[in-house]
Amino acid sequence: MVSIAVLGYGTVGSGVVEVIQTNQEIVNKRAGEEVNIKYVLDLREFEGDPIQKILVHDYNIILNDDDVKVVVEVMGGVEPAHTFVRQALEAGKSVCTSNKEMVAKHGAELIQIAKENKVNFLYEASVGGGIPIIRPLISSLTCDDITEVSGILNGTTNYILTKMRDQGAAFEDVLKEAQEKGYAERNPEADVEGYDACRKIAILTSLVCGQQIDYEDIYTEGITKITEKDFQYAKALKGSIKLLGTYQRIDGKVYVMVAPVIVSEKHPLYHVNDVFNAIFVHGNMLDDAMFYGRGAGKLPTASAVVSDVVDEVKHMGKNIMQIWEPGKLELGNFDDWKHKFLVRIQSEDIDDVNMEDVKNAFGDVLYVKAPGITNETAFVTNPIAEGVFKEAIQKFNGVISTLRVGF
Ligand code: HSE
Repeated sequence: MVSIAVLGYGTVGSGVVEVIQTNQEIVNKRAGEEVNIKYVLDLREFEGDPIQKILVHDYNIILNDDDVKVVVEVMGGVEPAHTFVRQALEAGKSVCTSNKEMVAKHGAELIQIAKENKVNFLYEASVGGGIPIIRPLISSLTCDDITEVSGILNGTTNYILTKMRDQGAAFEDVLKEAQEKGYAERNPEADVEGYDACRKIAILTSLVCGQQIDYEDIYTEGITKITEKDFQYAKALKGSIKLLGTYQRIDGKVYVMVAPVIVSEKHPLYHVNDVFNAIFVHGNMLDDAMFYGRGAGKLPTASAVVSDVVDEVKHMGKNIMQIWEPGKLELGNFDDWKHKFLVRIQSEDIDDVNMEDVKNAFGDVLYVKAPGITNETAFVTNPIAEGVFKEAIQKFNGVISTLRVGF
């Protein structure tokens, strides 16, 4: 029998207990041992819940109990989670976590400590909730040079963007409705400003490149400025707007961003709607693959956490090799990264925008009309460097919006 401790009895923590209790036989069989939850750590009391019998408030009880071989960290936040995890690894316990902030910030360090102590630090649930993506990157796609990872990594914003497209509704209205239904947080900033997706693409990039990326270095743009009219243009271009976290390696340089992008209906990410997440991966041998599923929610997330518990029990005394070294990963200059852009400019009629000026600034462009939209001129550029685009767009008055077009 292997004893485990669960730190945090919130949504994911109670989900971990539920997954293990519901599928106890399956979990035991696949782990090769009986998995026993010995402790749950939480500051709160849970009167009337059977968990009360194994509830502790002092982390030292878990840390000092040699019987506990796996610690499940599902408290969230960087501290004290990071300290608790480090102490557990140093005490010779394996750790698994759903905590994307802590993994993005301290992944390299914690993987190193786990290695030194012949234990494991796994974090499948930190990206894409229930979708297996970390384990495939560590264990399956081992012979490929992965040159692109693009993901719909945030369920809240994908839900909002899907509703805006399908109902022709405004961002604020859909956000309010999503909050009322409990799909969006009361404080939605981390989701709608792209910070959550930024942590997740940072984790994927660190793993693919084998080195720590600082998420502060990632260009991050949210969805708050997207309007119904932007969706009409996306539709005219046979696409839809998705918030993507993207890593690309071009000519040996690594580029990473989080931004809303017009995704073509020909791309598999176009078909990922509502709260679903998906991660598209391109490898030089593999070609394209996409991992799809529920990126959030109690049981899908807990399922990924418990899959790590099973892996850690199976690998007791043996470190599962993963390459994510400390030392900051140098990124290519964001201004050099080329994208196509949709540009919308205020104009009474198309002639108000001088086509010669457009050509001089952006080269050849494709003019686009969206049914029912008047008083503006819109066009899509060819791929143009971010820095060149930023400078060129300043020469025009009345710019309504710009959006990257890709994929
Ligand atoms: N707020 C996140 C989302 C939860 O909406 O996807 C999962 O990380």
